[in-house]
This record gives sequence, C-alpha cells and structure tokens, in this order.
Amino acid sequence: MSVRHALLWCIGSAVILGGARPRPRPPLDNGLARTPPMGWNSWNHFGCDVSAQLIRETADAITASGMRDAGYQYVVIDDCWQVARDRSGRIVADSTRFPGGIKPLADYVHSKGLKFGIYTDAGRRTCQGRPGTYGSEELDARTYAEWGVDYVKEDWCNAQGLDAPAQYAKFRDALAKSGRAIVFSICEWGSNQPWKWGPRTGNLWRTTGDIEDSWASMISRVDLNAQYALAEGPGGWNDPDMLEIGNGGMTEDEYRAHFSLWAVMAAPLLAGNDVRTMSAATRDILTNKEVIAVDQDSLGIQGMIVELPGPDLQVWAKPLADSSRAVVLLNRSALQTVITVPWWSLRLKGTAKVRNVWTHTDVGSFDRQFSATVPAHGAVMVRITSVAGN
Ligand code: GLA
Repeated sequence: MSVRHALLWCIGSAVILGGARPRPRPPLDNGLARTPPMGWNSWNHFGCDVSAQLIRETADAITASGMRDAGYQYVVIDDCWQVARDRSGRIVADSTRFPGGIKPLADYVHSKGLKFGIYTDAGRRTCQGRPGTYGSEELDARTYAEWGVDYVKEDWCNAQGLDAPAQYAKFRDALAKSGRAIVFSICEWGSNQPWKWGPRTGNLWRTTGDIEDSWASMISRVDLNAQYALAEGPGGWNDPDMLEIGNGGMTEDEYRAHFSLWAVMAAPLLAGNDVRTMSAATRDILTNKEVIAVDQDSLGIQGMIVELPGPDLQVWAKPLADSSRAVVLLNRSALQTVITVPWWSLRLKGTAKVRNVWTHTDVGSFDRQFSATVPAHGAVMVRITSVAGN
C-alpha cells in the first residue's frame, strides 16, 4: 500500500467516524437497494453452464439452507442464457437450457419468496458473444419487466466507441419506463470511473475487474474498492465483485476474511458458489447473522482503514446506526499475529464493550484499546460499543 493511500484512508476515516459524509451526487431515486443487495449469481461457479434446472435447484437450496432467511434475495442468471433475437427484435432464451422460457422460471423463484435477476450487456454482444442490449434498450427493459425480472446486471463487453455514463443512463431510463421495480447493477469493472456517475445511474457499480477464487485476487479487489468509499450510500453501492466463498480456492480463514471485508465495506453480498452441495462450514460463513447485520446496517457507510499497525496488518472500522463500530482486524501476512486497535483510532474514549460477531460472544469491556490474535491470511471481526457515560 502506498503512503498516499494510507493518508487518504486516514483522512477518510476521520470523515466517516467524525460524522460528516459528503455524498458527491444525488443518488438514483428508484427506492431500491437501500441496503447492499444480497443474493446469488451463477457466474463465479458455473460460468456459461446455466439452465432452468440449475436456477430452480439453487432457489430451493437458498430456501432450505437458511440463506433466504439470512437475507439472500436475488437469484441472478449471469451470461449465456440468451441465444438470439427474434424477427421483432425480442431477446430469445436458449430453449434447450430454458425450456418454456424465462417467465415460468421467474415465477418459480418468486414462489420461493425470492427475487429474480438476469444479465445483459450495454454493448453489441455480451462477454460470451451473446446478443447485447445496445440499440434495444427499451424493448429489453419491457421484456424483462414482462417476465418479472427484479434485478438486471449490465456488462460492458463489445462496447467500443460507446460512452459508458450515457449508455448506462439510457438503460436506467428504459428500466424506469418499464414500470417495474428493477435493481440496476452496472458492471464496467471500474474502467470509466463509475464511482462518479454510478450513484445517479445504478444501484451498484463494479469498481474492479473480475474476482478469482484466490487470496491475492480477493485482497486486490479490496484495495481497489476501498479507494471509493465516499461514493456509496443507501440506494447506491460500490461493488468489488461477487463472493467466492465455498468455491474451494481459499482456506476457511481466508473465506471468513473475505466475508468480513465485504461486510465492513458494505458491499453487495452475492454468493457465487454451488449452494446445492455446499458444506456446513460454507453455509455457516454465508449465513452468519451478526456479520450480515454489519453489511446491512441502515447507515449504509462503507468502512475504511483507520490504523496500519504493521506491514500487512490493517484495522478497518465502519460506524453503525446504534453508534457502535464494526471493526475488522486484518492479517494479510502468512504468520499468525496479535493486532491491537486503540480507541483513539475509532474516536472512542474510556471503556467500551467488545463482541465477537463471528462467534456471537461478548469478549469483555476494555479501556483504551483491544487486542486479538489473528490467524495468517485471516480476520477477527468485532463490534465495539462505548459504555454509557463515556
Ligand atoms: C464479465 C463480468 C463477469 C461476468 C462475465 C460473463 O467478465 O465482469 O462478472 O458477468 O462477464 O461473461
């Protein structure tokens, strides 16, 4: 991390913990995503191998596993569901993989008490070469509304020569005109500074290129996403990409750190694993209610680094609606170590109570600071509340 970034973060933390939060632009006013969207997306685990059967079984598993009750709502089919346009220009789903089309599938997902999402691309073709939305914005928005779509992710492949803010605004307006409440997910990988125009255009915007299921990839999304913390708030969220938890490339400590960081950054929580066959350990990470509550806190503030206790060690803090702070002690090194957070870096004084949100245990009351042993490539996540009278 550069000295410049460290300084920026320190200044930023003074801003968020000090209570003054500039919001650069009025947010998109579609009334949706007042907290970061939660759900599941097919891409990270299944790539192009999507089908109606997969989506139905996934909706079943989200319900049966407790994920729905933990807050996961949107079941999103990513790329490769579409194959062509018909003579009237209407988008056509792959009839082998989606017999009966998309509407009955959306109905099924709704019958499970979930919401349904779909993917397109602002350019001429999607990243996998399927028909894009360029030139068909109103027709596609109308079609999705008729099918009962609640969430659209719009990608940015094959968009050479197009202007990102203008194209995404066009689809935002088409979605509004469709008359259906549809969350709009902008996916142009942070390549056109979406933190500047995203808040007035979409409900979430990717700040990074695609995540991979490795510690290095996950951490590098965090370093990018952290830079734009002041852009987000209720209704519009920085998106460091979907979760890799349960896909097998990281250890359990690493996946817990991944989830802790997405929660402290108030990032969208879109699971990207095979929820039909996930282990109990994966389910327990994805459904940890106290960690999710940090992500979903109504203030909608993206936490920031407030302390750099040593090389590869970071303390993150996020102010919460009840005046407590969610704090992540992050160990990016390959050795277990002790990390300390002093109260001054959290703008707290006197005695404060500490609760471990992963284990749901009250750790105790502390004066001036709190220390914990943090595993290699791991995180300890706590909630720190000032004791009344201090
Ligand atoms: C891009 C996006 C991914 C995924 C793929 C699908 O790479 O960033 O999230 O949607 O396209 O082709």
